Amino acid sequence: MILIIDFGSQYNQLIARRVREHRVYCRIEPPRIRVAEIKALAPEGIILSGGPASIYEENSPRVDIEIFDLSIPILGICYGMQYMVDALGGEVKKAEKREYGLAELQIKDNSNIFYGIKEKTNCWMSHGDTVGSLPKGFRLTASTAGTLVAAIENPAKKLYGLQFHPEVAHTPKGKTMLKNFMFAICGCRKTWTMKSFIKGSVREVMSLIGDKRAILGLSGGVDSSVTALLLHRAIAKQLTCIFVDNGLLRQGEVEQVKWLFKKHFKMNLKFVSAKREFLNQLKGVVDPEKKRKIIGRTFIKVFEKEACKLQGVEFLAQGTLYPDIIESKSAYGGPSAVIKSHHNVGGLPKNMKLKLIEPLKHLFKDEVRVLGKELGLPEDLIWRQPFPGPGLAIRIIGDVTQARLSILRKADVILLEEIKENGLYKKLWQSFAVLLPLKSVGIMGDRRTYEYIAAIRAVTSADAMTADWARLPHSLLGRISNRIINEVRGINRVVYDISSKPPSTIEWE
Ligand code: XMP
Repeated sequence: MILIIDFGSQYNQLIARRVREHRVYCRIEPPRIRVAEIKALAPEGIILSGGPASIYEENSPRVDIEIFDLSIPILGICYGMQYMVDALGGEVKKAEKREYGLAELQIKDNSNIFYGIKEKTNCWMSHGDTVGSLPKGFRLTASTAGTLVAAIENPAKKLYGLQFHPEVAHTPKGKTMLKNFMFAICGCRKTWTMKSFIKGSVREVMSLIGDKRAILGLSGGVDSSVTALLLHRAIAKQLTCIFVDNGLLRQGEVEQVKWLFKKHFKMNLKFVSAKREFLNQLKGVVDPEKKRKIIGRTFIKVFEKEACKLQGVEFLAQGTLYPDIIESKSAYGGPSAVIKSHHNVGGLPKNMKLKLIEPLKHLFKDEVRVLGKELGLPEDLIWRQPFPGPGLAIRIIGDVTQARLSILRKADVILLEEIKENGLYKKLWQSFAVLLPLKSVGIMGDRRTYEYIAAIRAVTSADAMTADWARLPHSLLGRISNRIINEVRGINRVVYDISSKPPSTIEWE
């Protein structure tokens, strides 16, 4: 295992991904982690990450200096290297010239971190401070034109420092450097596989839950579905999944979840039809935030009511993923106790005093997909595009009614069919229809019509923080428009949304 100390760099999750790509498990922990905790984790190596602070600033993040006495190999990256230099008696100063972007690295010694890499290679720099003098026992191993001290090492103590970022794609040999650190220097082995993860988690869940019972709010999305399957493998019928039909789901979704989890996986699934309750609460509400709040509140109410009917439940399982945990624990984030709750569950049932169990909390999204596959989840569910908790309610502008939901569902199915048929479903972050309850004039046959407008939204994105509208082929857009107008009664005009995020958002409400 590699322990990554999080000094707040935007690239930290990338370091973790790089380590795990080599089938080595890793954890990201904040600098306030205690040496005793590190000893208990017993990592083979430690990576000190980069970060936005300057080491000589007051309150710059620091990790316990005893970390250097643990006889565990340490690699400091950017701020991490500067911290190491400062802590061990060297000097860090403001660089005369800040260095950002690509630089050519001149390697002087390619025995350890740089083993197998040619003398000259590109690297990605992003720093305003630089190392002035090295601590005792260290030597210089690489430089760039703008940064004399680009890499250092103390091989006797297995301490290494890189001023540049080996984890980003712009450092083409960065993977080799990390590999050299993990395998040659730390002696890691490639044992992190989904099979080993399942084995370990099942054991952990079994010993934690014992003969007690657990509940889980199943939404039909990837995270809650994979959590359900993993728990089912560990505690089988001691797990009850609660699936709430809020009436705001897409066509066929309810049936798919029921069939898959109840019939196919033979799990305890409590199906709650609460359509009427949700629609009643939403009647006449047009403000998007109010809609969200009502839906969240109603969900908790319905979920709580069902959960209270079950006897002897002590655990609530949630599909929280690693990025949420890291964010809430980062050097600049809130206190470590604050863990975001899954937005589809919204909060713990108040009166039940349930203990939280989050078996995916150390996994990234793509690892959850691999895990899902390993657990037998069908491909179409594993690769489902994200679907917001408030469902179709935030894809109908204004008042949400049964009639409007029915129109939107039909348009959405057509859009998805066409997108899938053209092999675009996996390439797009999201693709969906939005109903604009504005009426415009059209002509069908010899009759004048006065019907709603459907907007098509299709975006590409890596993480939903930014997104670009997808350049769908005109012929495809034409077919989608044609089919929606011909097949869906109530829509006589289709428009395509060509806005990016920011300044627009992905959803319309
Ligand atoms: P926006 O519209 O803010 O969406 O660009 C970013 C991502 O978040 C999803 N989204 C939500 N998910 N509850 C959710 O569970 C919500 O209220 C919500 N609003 C937006 C959206 O689908 C996109 O993937």
